[in-house]
Amino acid sequence: MPITQTREISPATRLENVRYAIRDLACVADEVERQGHKILPLNIGDPLNFDFQTPPHMIEAVYKAMRDGKNGYSSSSGIPQALEAIRGEAERKGITTIQDVFVTSGVSETVDICLTALLNPGDNLLTPCPDYPLYSAVLAKLEVGLRAYYLKEEDGWQPDLADIEKKITPRTRGIVLINPNNPTGSVCTRKTLEQIGEMARRHNLIIFADEIYDKLIIDIDDDPHVAMAEVAPDVPVVTFGGLSKNYLAPGWRIGWGIASGEAAVIKPYLEGVNKLLRARLCANHPEQYAIQAALEGPQDHLVEVRQKLRTRRDLTMKWCEETSRIHCVTPRGAFYAYPSIDIPEGDDVFVTELIRQKHVTVVHGSGFGQRPGTKHFRIVFLPDEKTLAAAYSAIGSFMRQRYSQ
Ligand SMILES: Cc1ncc(COP(=O)(O)O)c(C=O)c1O
Repeated sequence: MPITQTREISPATRLENVRYAIRDLACVADEVERQGHKILPLNIGDPLNFDFQTPPHMIEAVYKAMRDGKNGYSSSSGIPQALEAIRGEAERKGITTIQDVFVTSGVSETVDICLTALLNPGDNLLTPCPDYPLYSAVLAKLEVGLRAYYLKEEDGWQPDLADIEKKITPRTRGIVLINPNNPTGSVCTRKTLEQIGEMARRHNLIIFADEIYDKLIIDIDDDPHVAMAEVAPDVPVVTFGGLSKNYLAPGWRIGWGIASGEAAVIKPYLEGVNKLLRARLCANHPEQYAIQAALEGPQDHLVEVRQKLRTRRDLTMKWCEETSRIHCVTPRGAFYAYPSIDIPEGDDVFVTELIRQKHVTVVHGSGFGQRPGTKHFRIVFLPDEKTLAAAYSAIGSFMRQRYSQ
């Protein structure tokens, strides 16, 4: 009879602060689906769940790579033609002081490697609030406390510069900037970027510029995206990009980092990054062949994607404007809207009851972090107009029934 272990295997205490509201809510949605209801999913930012397809020339490039036997490990920083194409892309973004480029398994891995290579216990990194939860999860793993700066709703969700300045300590090593932003859909002005660059310069900080949505600017003609690293060429910046959003291939897990700034300042840090890149061997190999195809091939899909996003954003805003208790800053990039709600209960209760009663899934603001006393929810407006209209009608009816007394 083998000896059976009786003591339970507990997870590390450092995971206590890891939250991922987007996926956690999926459990409630699964329960509702098991009861036979169809869910209207306005919660997951995967374009491939809706009427968007990966451009065929990218699929061909990966298929050819697999057929040509590119199925072993690649070099740790990535295949040469992909690195070349990313450099070209960085130059088109106006980045002039490129010091290194590397390919990872999604921006998720870029974030993990870049934060791990930087932070010692006791250091801190300024992250936006509300934020994309991956950042706080990686910081929890590194046992680095969260030091969040607010985005200012009354200023179109621009980073609150006074709050950033106030939160910098002698142990602050860097600032995370998500632009275009998840969950607010805001896009930083050049002036904001210049001021953040100036703060980084004064306090010797590195900037992590998560620009994974940079081609999904909804009103592109009025409002082009400005890269952080273009505005502050002398400041150490790692710009994050990838195929998941702009190029509609999230399942391929391809992301990258572009490091820029003064060579002498950033080089020691980049040695640390490369050490970690080597330790995890490489990113998915055949999928890397799609990078050059994506960045240098036809960009026609972007016109169609932006057109769909504009129509769906406008429909979303019309509904927000017509609905009492809701107020929303117009999203200018990505595919998220982040309305505030004026209700007498928590936004987590609001979203959970909304799934249970009306089968519509959105994510509560408290899942992303928000200013105390405020309540929000995040809408993903990727679904087609018919689905969005049905979802908004259901949310409206839920709110009338629940809050009109
Ligand atoms: C701001 C932001 N950064 C990073 C990611 C992760 O991207 P990837 O699929 O490249 O890992 C996402 C995914 O939603 C995101 O919204």
